[in-house]
Amino acid sequence: MGIKMKLTALAISILVISGCSNANSQSEEEMDHSKISDEEMDHSMMDMDGDMMEGHMSHDEVVSLNDSTGENELKIPSMLERDDEEGVVYTVRAQKGKTEIFDGIETTTYGYNGSFLGPMLRLEKGETVKIRTINELDENTTFHWHGLDVPADADGGPHDVIKPGEEKIIEFEVSQEAATLWFHPHPEGITAEQVYNGLAGLLYIEDDNSKSLGLPSDYGKNDIPLIFQDKLFDDEKQLNFIAAMNDDGTIGDTLLVNGTLNPKLTVDKEKVRLRLLNGSNARNFTFKLNTGDSFVQIATDGGFLNEPVVLKEVTLAPSERAEIIVDFSQMNSENDLALVNEDGSILLPFEVSNQSGAVSTIPGEMNDFSLTEEEMELPVTKKVELFGMMDQVTINGKKFDSERIDFTQQQGVTEVWEIYNKPDEMGGMIHPFHIHGTQFKIISRNGEAPPENERGWKDSISIEPDERVKIAVKFNNKGVYMFHCHILEHEDNGMMGQVKVE
Ligand code: C2O
Ligand code: CU
Ligand code: CU
Repeated sequence: MGIKMKLTALAISILVISGCSNANSQSEEEMDHSKISDEEMDHSMMDMDGDMMEGHMSHDEVVSLNDSTGENELKIPSMLERDDEEGVVYTVRAQKGKTEIFDGIETTTYGYNGSFLGPMLRLEKGETVKIRTINELDENTTFHWHGLDVPADADGGPHDVIKPGEEKIIEFEVSQEAATLWFHPHPEGITAEQVYNGLAGLLYIEDDNSKSLGLPSDYGKNDIPLIFQDKLFDDEKQLNFIAAMNDDGTIGDTLLVNGTLNPKLTVDKEKVRLRLLNGSNARNFTFKLNTGDSFVQIATDGGFLNEPVVLKEVTLAPSERAEIIVDFSQMNSENDLALVNEDGSILLPFEVSNQSGAVSTIPGEMNDFSLTEEEMELPVTKKVELFGMMDQVTINGKKFDSERIDFTQQQGVTEVWEIYNKPDEMGGMIHPFHIHGTQFKIISRNGEAPPENERGWKDSISIEPDERVKIAVKFNNKGVYMFHCHILEHEDNGMMGQVKVE
């Protein structure tokens, strides 16, 4: 099936899918956006397999990604320079611009301090940070620091709207350990579109431990950020969110890594640390090496694992991160090495240079994360039930209401939250559950201890249909925080609640 056919089939499946939750919703407007002639439609309908026609977006059947041809060297987000004015450390501007993603074509995109995506901000544990946030868009936005343990008034949730042309300075102390976090907008109902258009950046925290472990840490050289996002470009190579949008999560056939189309990464013969971020609106990724070789995972969303975990693959739902180390020291380009997805589609080819790089060893002990006996025995005091699909998604039977507080919790007190993904007649789907303003610990998945590579700090957790997970949650700061599904369209459709920390 050629690219065009694929696109057409996808457009139709989106139409069919949006038609299924509301039989009358296949409006002329939607038909228009998809730009499909009747003839093409007939064609594709015959190609479609029955499954796609009935259900909602079962995420096992999503359109697969085009292979990266590797013709473009991976772009590395710049490291943001520190300001030096009245204690303000960083200035972050949300902007709209044009980006050459495809050769010779300008795509309208959003970005932070640039036209697409954002720079990397580096923070040190223990420092007090002021960040000036400026909205240069012509629509409302917020600046949310995903995974950061901050007072709620600095968290940038939907209550923290910054209007066009306005700015806000936030201040907080960096109190958590080294981790790969990120930032993105969070305005009520339009988060999915703003992220899809390009608003997402990286936030690294470093501390004494991260600096003394001897891990690869030469930014952009052997310590590489990788933001994975799938997009659907229209005929003019534009990001037309309205046309691409799916209520169960917008997916595309085109992969961008750090905003690079058809990326490849050139590495020396050395151990290379890859900081994987699933920055997609909805797509899950399962990362593995095409050779079947193993790699080690060294960090979760919120910090280092106690010990490196040897894996052949790692799955990340939207917003999850994993740091992995791939050893290229014995490899060369004849190996035709690449990072691939579950189904084998090529995400990121590697070119191994003749240079031998730094010699590093991965320490056997990296952290002192622990889940205590006491925490494991705490009773469940918060229950969260995720249910539904499309625009009918709910948490505990309710949709988000910014005026309603769903839970209260005491500052500094650990409580056990039990989250259940209630299936529907069609089986249901994975929901990645995220809580703001905290890093939590996974106690169990369906009563079993979590896999080794989830025995570390987490701020998002992927939950399968009919799965029940228990997590230990503590907030160090006060205020109102969001918890929600990180399929951004589900979040926008109301799969979100609020916890007030007192
Ligand atoms: Cu990535 Cu509400 O967050
Ligand atoms: Cu968040
Ligand atoms: Cu969801």
